[in-house]
Amino acid sequence: MAEPPRPRPPIPRPGSPASVPSTPAPVSPESRGPSSSPPPSSGRPSIPSALPLGRAPSSPDSERLPSAGGGTLKTTPLRPLIDIAQPKLSLVVETENGQMVGRAITHEGDVCRIGTHPSNDITLDDPAVSRFHCRLVPDRDGWRVEDSGALNGTHLQGLQIHSAVLPPEARLAIGNSTISIRWGKTSEKTLVPMMPSFGALTGTGRAMRKLFALLEKVAASEINCFIHGESGTGKELVATEIVQRGVRADKPFVVVDCGAISPTLVESELFGHVRGAFTGADRDRIGAFEAADGGTVFLDEIGELPLEVQPKLLRALEQREIRRVGETKTRKVNVRVISATNRDLEREVNKGSFRGDLYFRIAVITVRVPPLRERTEDLSHLIRAFLTQLGASDNEPLFGPEVLDELAKHEWPGNVRELRNYVERSLVLQTARLSFAPPQNASGTTTSAGAAVDVNIPYKVAKEALLDQFERAYVRGVIAACNGNMTKAARMAGIDRMYLHRLVQKHGSREALASSSGEGDPPFSQRKPATE
Ligand SMILES: Nc1ncnc2c1ncn2[C@@H]1O[C@H](COP(=O)(O)OP(=O)(O)OP(=O)(O)O)[C@@H](O)[C@H]1O
Ligand SMILES: [Mg+2]
Repeated sequence: MAEPPRPRPPIPRPGSPASVPSTPAPVSPESRGPSSSPPPSSGRPSIPSALPLGRAPSSPDSERLPSAGGGTLKTTPLRPLIDIAQPKLSLVVETENGQMVGRAITHEGDVCRIGTHPSNDITLDDPAVSRFHCRLVPDRDGWRVEDSGALNGTHLQGLQIHSAVLPPEARLAIGNSTISIRWGKTSEKTLVPMMPSFGALTGTGRAMRKLFALLEKVAASEINCFIHGESGTGKELVATEIVQRGVRADKPFVVVDCGAISPTLVESELFGHVRGAFTGADRDRIGAFEAADGGTVFLDEIGELPLEVQPKLLRALEQREIRRVGETKTRKVNVRVISATNRDLEREVNKGSFRGDLYFRIAVITVRVPPLRERTEDLSHLIRAFLTQLGASDNEPLFGPEVLDELAKHEWPGNVRELRNYVERSLVLQTARLSFAPPQNASGTTTSAGAAVDVNIPYKVAKEALLDQFERAYVRGVIAACNGNMTKAARMAGIDRMYLHRLVQKHGSREALASSSGEGDPPFSQRKPATE
């Protein structure tokens, strides 16, 4: 029988020992503040000068003060600042359900949702519009429009789109309504300190600074929060940081991976069961909500939650009470819920595979974690943080300016997880090339299986690299063969679904594995190592 859920300890900080205490340890004040940063790699060679670390950003970050002589003195603040202001959107709902309305709206801040449900930023009274029809999402230099799987589609400048960059003047047609949109660079600045990290989260770029500013507010509140982002972007780390900065930091933090539990056991995992509730229930067992009483439950991969369990979760959130499987009496619980998924839940709501009322309950506030390809300015800091964590800072010269240029061009479908795997692999192989195969060099030979081997690499290390290559190719192949259906893929591979899930986590996102084609590796073009 499955063990009761156990509170998860905080993720070790960069540089902290890898050992994991069995109960959540209180977080020290130093590790809580946004000023906490990875320990310096003193005495070690630094990453070459192409890296932005420590480079003061240009103009917006310095302040001008009047000088005694009447001129201005330029001062540099102790902490460099970064401007995270997002261009404002000026929208006019021109027609609504075919009627001229001319309703003007100004939207500032993050995502702007459009649909018929009242929780949207722009609510339309138009039966041809979906509940969550489309959204305007801040992009690196402006805004993007994304369709949320709406029945009647989203049309930008007369063309049906799935996702498109929004021109500075645009016209959206959805259902029987039209919206004109204008955005322009704002002259107002929103300056926040540019720090290399936020607890265990590394990132100095604009996207991450915005995220850190939001996380500080979310952490200070008690509301249910929904974290959305591609696989490997750091959703679990974000959840951990929110908890560690909040008032529940020293209370239980229980993680439930909804995607890794068999659908028949999810309810018992969340709410517990009594003896005899079902075959195999040979004793009473508490669920995650009771285990986390007073603290936080992190519902990872909430998009995988079976439809039949969703009303029960909704009840737990609304009534703050749960019922163990097989029991009639209810029990009060005091739990904050943080949830995460890489699925587009608004699309799932439109499709009917996720309950709208539950979505509103869990997503009182939504935190978007940007994909790594949208924040390549963070690459060098992340690499440095991983090297520090791995006790390998003296390998920084492996990741020279040319390598970083190549890395910035890569799409990173597995995001930060893929980057971490890449750094670990580079350390083992002592080359920062992006391919998985051990490098073929002067002393390299080829096995009968056709794989290149480098006899300068220890046997165990070379074998692991090859196994890694095989696992990735196999997982990618079997998931592609099953069109991304994990249950089918696990059956076809003859392995447990949970094990397949772990393999996917190890090697990158499911979407990336499913969508890539071709057999074997390398999935990326072979690149000449910059340093050898
Ligand atoms: N900003 C970051 N700074 C440092 N490490 C990070 C950052 N983001 C992610 N990581 C690391 O990348 C790995 C993946 O992060 P995490 O498990 O939180 O991703 P995820 O979004 O939950 O992925 P999935 O959707 O596959 O569950 C972890 O090793 C995590 O520590
Ligand atoms: Mg996760």
